[in-house]
Amino acid sequence: MNTPTDQPLLVRKARVSDAPRLRQLGILGWETTYTDFIRPENRAAYLSGAFWSIETLSRVIVGPENLALVAEHPQSGVIGFLTIEPYAPDRRKLELTRFYVHPDWRRSGVGSLLLDAALEQIKHLHASALMVNVFARNAVGRAFYERAGFHLVDIVPVMVGDQIDDDAWYELPLDGDKQAHTPG
Ligand SMILES: CC(C)(COP(=O)(O)OP(=O)(O)OC[C@H]1O[C@@H](n2cnc3c(N)ncnc32)[C@H](O)[C@@H]1OP(=O)(O)O)[C@@H](O)C(=O)NCCC(=O)NCCS
Repeated sequence: MNTPTDQPLLVRKARVSDAPRLRQLGILGWETTYTDFIRPENRAAYLSGAFWSIETLSRVIVGPENLALVAEHPQSGVIGFLTIEPYAPDRRKLELTRFYVHPDWRRSGVGSLLLDAALEQIKHLHASALMVNVFARNAVGRAFYERAGFHLVDIVPVMVGDQIDDDAWYELPLDGDKQAHTPG
């Protein structure tokens, strides 16, 4: 791996100007990790959809209820990021919605650095848990979450383009006591 690890990484909040790089890292993630099980046309369809658009990423970055963090290297720039948003089915919880480290930098602690920083920053939100879904066949993602203390709560079918795959839902209990959001 040709990555200078002697230089300190900065973890900071994402800016709207990072959105194109976040999209690029997401595409790189899909085109490395998911190539074994998501067909090319379905990867392309998803990557051209709203979830990975610059508009959506920019909205997530500025959203006051969200957290978007990047890991930045002095020479290589932004090499990883994550986004956390409210978990729609249960407002006491949060959801890790995107989490990608550049392929050249994987398995060198960048993901752990980002997740630790995020957990520190969301403490004040007093959420009861952090949820994440990962393709059930994404063995690396699942190993990461299990190592980080998440536990498997469900496996549910998911449509990706015209193919059906499985999502593995994981939960990391947090100490918070965030009250359920009551509409109105
Ligand atoms: C998942 C991901 C973000 C993890 O980031 P990372 O910087 O590589 O992770 P870390 O180096 O902090 O790894 C922490 C631990 O996770 C586990 N892990 C990470 N990569 C692993 C791999 N390839 N195989 C097995 N375990 C792995 C290990 O327990 C590791 O600790 P160790 O290296 O001391 O054994 C990164 O692999 C990635 O971007 N993958 C592609 C996108 C993706 O799958 N995202 C998650 C689903 S949304």
